[in-house]
Amino acid sequence: MHIIEQLQADQAAANAHQDPNANLCFFSTVDPNGSPQVRTLVLRQIAETTITLFINTSSPKWQQLSKQPRCQALLWYSSLQIQYRLSGIAEALASDAIQDNWHKRPLRAKLLDYFYDWTAPQSSRMTSRAGLLEQFEALSQRLTPEDLKPSSAAIGLSVQLDQIERLDLSQNDLPHARTLFDRSENGWTTHALVP
Ligand SMILES: Cc1cc2nc3c(=O)[nH]c(=O)nc-3n(C[C@H](O)[C@H](O)[C@H](O)COP(=O)(O)O)c2cc1C
Repeated sequence: MHIIEQLQADQAAANAHQDPNANLCFFSTVDPNGSPQVRTLVLRQIAETTITLFINTSSPKWQQLSKQPRCQALLWYSSLQIQYRLSGIAEALASDAIQDNWHKRPLRAKLLDYFYDWTAPQSSRMTSRAGLLEQFEALSQRLTPEDLKPSSAAIGLSVQLDQIERLDLSQNDLPHARTLFDRSENGWTTHALVP
């Protein structure tokens, strides 16, 4: 089976097992000081050569990716005992890619996008949570829920994958099965790795 089909099949199996990580990834970037930065993101789509994530461009992760687009997403499906490492290069998707999804978001999430635009960027420091809630409430009062439009800062992020590593722990008494897949113009090449 092609590695992307394998990945999609594993994700579907994790979903069938109600694995809490089935639709998540742990996404790492490198900041301008060379420090790693990792956070949980919803993994929106796994396609032929890309994965898709949704983020806000006011966030540090976007500033980091603008300077260093190389990134890595880690998946851990405990229900299957399988880990994936997905490496590649991130780029912003055209803004209409997120429109439908944006309208389906809970009101709180839509208002937060406005908060990032009008009040303070995502991940910025506030003096207190009470102060944040006060400003959030003030912003909500100025807006009518039905009139909210997707913020241009809410974007889809596409990661063009060039390397995938799969580690399968479910091997009973044998060493774990670990495989590296490298992508070139000719498709994926496969190497077994020492687990
Ligand atoms: C389960 C879970 C799912 C999340 N999904 C997203 C997501 O899809 N997009 C996003 O921007 N942040 C998501 N977050 C929040 C991020 O982990 C992070 O706190 C935020 O994006 C700020 O990251 P940054 O400061 O590294 O830019 C999620 C957090 C959790 C715990």
